[in-house]
Parts: sequence; C-alpha cells; structure tokens
Amino acid sequence: KLLVIDFGSQVTQLIARRLRESGIYCEIHPFNKVDDAFLQKFAPKAVILSGGPASVHGEGTPRAPQRVFEMGIPVLGICYGEQTMCAQLGGSVEPAQEREFGRADIEIVAESPLFEGLGGVGHSERVWMSHGDRVNAIPQGFHPIAVTRHAPFAAIADESRRFYGVQFHPEVVNTPRGALILRNFTHRIANMHGDWTMAAFKDEAIAKIREQVGDGKVICGLSGGVDSSVAAVLLHEAIGDRLTCVFVDTGLMRHGEADQVVELFREHYNIPLVAAYEEERFLSALEGVSDPETKRKTIGKLFIDVFEENARMAGGADFLAQGTLYPDVIESVSFAGGPSVTIKSHHNVGGLPERMNMKLVEPLRELFKDEVRELGRELGLPEAFVGRHPFPGPGLAIRIPGAVTKEKADILRHADRIYIEEIRNAGLYDAIWQAFAVLLPVQTVGVMGDARTYDHVLALRAVTSVDGMTADYFPFDHDFLGRVATRIINEVRGVNRVVYDVTSKPPGTIEWE
Ligand code: XMP
Repeated sequence: KLLVIDFGSQVTQLIARRLRESGIYCEIHPFNKVDDAFLQKFAPKAVILSGGPASVHGEGTPRAPQRVFEMGIPVLGICYGEQTMCAQLGGSVEPAQEREFGRADIEIVAESPLFEGLGGVGHSERVWMSHGDRVNAIPQGFHPIAVTRHAPFAAIADESRRFYGVQFHPEVVNTPRGALILRNFTHRIANMHGDWTMAAFKDEAIAKIREQVGDGKVICGLSGGVDSSVAAVLLHEAIGDRLTCVFVDTGLMRHGEADQVVELFREHYNIPLVAAYEEERFLSALEGVSDPETKRKTIGKLFIDVFEENARMAGGADFLAQGTLYPDVIESVSFAGGPSVTIKSHHNVGGLPERMNMKLVEPLRELFKDEVRELGRELGLPEAFVGRHPFPGPGLAIRIPGAVTKEKADILRHADRIYIEEIRNAGLYDAIWQAFAVLLPVQTVGVMGDARTYDHVLALRAVTSVDGMTADYFPFDHDFLGRVATRIINEVRGVNRVVYDVTSKPPGTIEWE
C-alpha cells in the first residue's frame, strides 16, 4: 500500500481518489502523526508528499520524517511536498517573484518514466499550479524533467533513488493528464499492481468498524439520503443488530420519502429502526423564522433534541455513526490559516456525541459521493435508491425562502414531485446531479380561464456537478421546461408562474439558502 503524507492541502483527498481510480490502495496520514515507528509498521511501497498551505521558509513549518528518504522506496513530492523534499535533501527554496496560480504549460526537458505516455522532450503539457514559493536549487542527484516560463524546476527527478517532485498538482482535474502521471508513479516507478477495488474497500471498512466498535453498540441517524443509508447498511454488515437506526421525519422531506426509508430499512434490510414523526414540532419551531441561518440552526438544534430523545429510548449506545463524506470534512482538515468562512451551517448531529458521551464512527469519511454510490451498489442497495439526488438535511425548509408553513411545504412537495417525475420520464434523472423546486415568497398576477390569479412563483433548479463543490445549471430544452411549467401550474394550487434558475456555482450555491 501507498502512504500519502498530508501537509494540509485542500486537495489531498483527490490524490487518494485518483489512486483508487487506478486500483491503488493508499492511506492518508497527517505529517505530524508519521514517525519512524509508524513508517516501520506501515511499510509503504511508495510515499506521496502532498501539497500544503505553509511556506518552507516559515518558522517550524512541517517536514517529512527524514526516514522516508532512507527506506529505498519511491517518493513523489507534490507542490509543498516537492519543496520540503528539496529543502530536506540539500536543495533550496525561495519565495518566487512571479507567483503562479492556475493554468500553466510545462515543457518536458528530459525523458522520465513519470511522464511516459505524455510525449517526449519538447512536449508541452497543460497543468494546474498553485504555489508562491519555488525551488531554486535542487539537491544532488536530481535533474529537471520539466520547466515552465517561471519555474526552472517545475518537475524534477532523481531516477536512481526514484525520487520525484512536481510543482503542479497532478491530482486535480484541471491537470487533464494528471491521473496518468500519478499512475506512472504507482504502476511504473513503484511497480504496484492496481488490483484494489470497491469490494476490497468494503471489506477493509467492515474490518475497521469491527476494530473500532469492539462489542459496543452503535446508533446511526438515517436521513433518507444515500450517504447515511450506505453507512447504515455497511455498519449492519459489520456488527449486525448491535446497530440501531434512528430516523426523524421532520415533515420537511420530499413526497413519500419517509415511508420509503422506513420500508427499505425495516422490511428489506430488517435493521432495527426507530422512526420519529415530528412534523408539528419542526413546523412550530420554524414559525415566523425567515433568516436562512436561523432556519438552519433551528432545525439542527431541534433535530439533535429529537434524535437524542429517540436514541435514549432505544437504549443509548457507545458510538454514533454518521455518513460524513470527504467534501464535508474538507474545511476541518486544513491545519494552517484561519478558520474558513461559514457559507452555510451544515446540518448534522454535531455536538451530540459529547452530550450523550458517544464516540463517532464515520466509515465514509474518505469517500466522494460517486464512490459512496459505488459502495452502495457493492452492498446491494437498490440502484434507484443509490442513484438518488442528494437532499440537504434541513430539507424543504431551505427551499422555501421566507417563513415556512405547512401549506407552503405541501405546495412545494407537490410541485417538486411533478418536476422530478417529468425529469425521470425524459430519461434525464441520471444526467443531473440534483434537481428540485424552490417556492418563492413572491406572488405575481396571472390569468387562468377568465379569472385573475395572484399566486406564488416557483423556481426550478437543476445542476450538473462532480462533487457538489462546483456546479453548472442543466441545459434543459425549452419544450421540456414548457411541459413542466404547464403541468405544475395546472395541477398545483397556489402556483401561477414558473421560472428556471440558470446560475452556476460559484457564484450561486446549489440550494437557495
Ligand atoms: P450548496 O447549496 O452549499 O450545496 O451549494 C452543496 C450540496 O450540499 C447539499 N446541502 C446540504 N447537505 N446538509 C446536508 O446534508 C445541509 O445542511 C446541506 N446544505 C446543502 C446541497 O443539497 C448540495 O447537494
């Protein structure tokens, strides 16, 4: 297996993801947790040093354990990883006069197995740079294998020791052939085989859960979404009926959703499930609340209360399981720099583990959404369930700008059902990352039959995305939009106008609140 030493880059997990895609198993460990004893036990076949926000010049900035360079194994340093490797092996690094961010073209200046398949000497390759420092003297034994206009050491190699450094990020999609470069490193240089699969991930995840949980009991909050469902089924395979699921129906879910969840888990999987139907409590807590953050916090807080009551009734547990995915933790893994700005308070059961004295189990923490879906298939979850669009924890409340009422939630549920039905009929559901309707707190004048109407505007949203972090609006054809609008206005009382949202993310977010 391969070891990724993490220096806190926002994209470190993408390295793992690219490796998994080419069948390589790896683990990511923060630089300050990797010491000689750890390395001995882990026995990596190769090491990748990630990028990071620090500058090699700063006082006490992170270093790789020197032992990494003495084990006779291949090492690839990316960005900060390249710089610290150079600094540690006798080269030097200085602040660059020209900082390079974003797109750049490297020119290959020497043959190397790292660039096999890209093109030979003189070939120009598009890459993505993000760095303020640059290497200005390379350690003995190294030579440049690629340059850019501003970086004479955009990529360097010591072929005899199998040490490589790149100043760009091969792991991001903006380096179109970065995956090939990583694959060259693992398959050609480190002679790894690439026979790891999601089935193997499942077995490892089950083993890890058993090791962590021992003979303890686990409670898992089921939201009805793909993530928590996959986490629950995985846990059930690992520890059987020592798992209890708690499902809270907030009354803010989509049409028919609560019933589907209960049926799938109780009937199909036979997993112990406590279901709490709390529509009234949630709606009354939300009465008159129109600020988006207050709404999110109100729902989050009440959710925790309800969850706690039900978890206690179910007899409590030693562990709380959550379907946290990598993009959810991305902010908390960067150790340098101040806290990130809160765009939206995400809804989860944060705070609960301390209150109830439970430890956390998060078996999906390393995965991206599409990988969770693949794991779900591996676990035998029905395709229609695994392929469902994401749905936010605060539910329809954040799709009703302004104060939420039962009447509005019902109107939205009805319109949303028609919209999704038409998307399915048109065969577009799987091409879209997420589609939903938003009920606007705006009334406009219309005419139906011979009468004047004065009803709500409904906005339709549909986006494509890889991981929810960026998104593009979906280019429906006009006939489709017209058909949906007509059906909604005819069938849903309370809506007399339909508009389509053509904002991408950024600058918009996917949800409206
Ligand atoms: P935004 O609106 O921030 O959403 O572009 C990105 C993705 O996250 C979902 N989302 C949430 N999911 N709890 C969740 O579990 C939340 O509080 C929450 N808010 C947004 C959103 O639906 C989209 O898929």
